[in-house]
Amino acid sequence: MSASASRATTTSAGSSTAAADERRPGRLSVRGLRKTYALGAVAVEALKGIDLEVSGGQFVVVLGPSGSGKTTLLNIVGGIDTVTSGTVAVDGENISGYDARALTEYRRRTVGFVFQFFNLIPSLTALENVALIARLTGGPERRAAAAVDEARNALNAVGLEKRLDHFPAALSGGEQQRVAVARALAKHPRLLLCDEPTGALDLGTGRDVLSLLRQVNREQSLTTILVTHNSAIATMADRVLRVRDGRIDDDQTVASPREAAEVTW
Ligand SMILES: Nc1ncnc2c1ncn2[C@@H]1O[C@H](COP(=O)(O)OP(=O)(O)OP(=O)(O)O)[C@@H](O)[C@H]1O
Ligand SMILES: [Mg+2]
Repeated sequence: MSASASRATTTSAGSSTAAADERRPGRLSVRGLRKTYALGAVAVEALKGIDLEVSGGQFVVVLGPSGSGKTTLLNIVGGIDTVTSGTVAVDGENISGYDARALTEYRRRTVGFVFQFFNLIPSLTALENVALIARLTGGPERRAAAAVDEARNALNAVGLEKRLDHFPAALSGGEQQRVAVARALAKHPRLLLCDEPTGALDLGTGRDVLSLLRQVNREQSLTTILVTHNSAIATMADRVLRVRDGRIDDDQTVASPREAAEVTW
């Protein structure tokens, strides 16, 4: 492939959305979202009115400077944080109206998270870290053995079948992030939310994790929202949002996304 053919090109957002996407699960609709944090007498307006529609299966990269509101947006979409005003709906279900209990269920069943620092439990093996989440997600009726099977499948899917019994300390950073991706996938989520997933990894390992995320996104048609400072990563996305000072400043659809393996920084 020539360099020009592989170069990512962008067009105005929204125009290339396939009709079939309208019926795929993992659709996100955010309307008039505002978030204000009260810090003593000071009010911090982290989000100042976000409107956003994401179709099922889209791979969206969110860029923006430090403090612009990226994590706040991701956490609200993921049910980790709540809105001050506005609505967030997933597949037509208004999660911004949920009470704490319903939000817990939503986080357990609908959303997979991948964070910068992996957040694995150090005293559990790779298999146990993933099985723990598979067990929680399945509810009280799920047998432990079924959760372990689910976890083993998820770890196989991320290429870690030979590392099942390793503790996090005996895994490289890239392998730990793969375990974190497997942990997210073991829930069979409808949304995969990633906050700086390559922020603690070197270029080669980061690229491998990006390739994995893209592969999962394509194979499972899993809506993926990836927050990063790294604008190079935007070239592999279907769509790039730029957040600035609590607002979406720019929204571009990428006509020919690069393969993750071609991304460099
Ligand atoms: N729990 C909180 N209490 C008070 N202020 C907060 C809280 N969480 C975030 N903020 C403020 O909201 C704004 C947006 O923060 P956010 O973490 O969303 O930024 P970000 O774009 O993710 O930044 P970074 O790239 O550094 O991770 C910042 O001004 C931050 O200080
Ligand atoms: Mg952040």
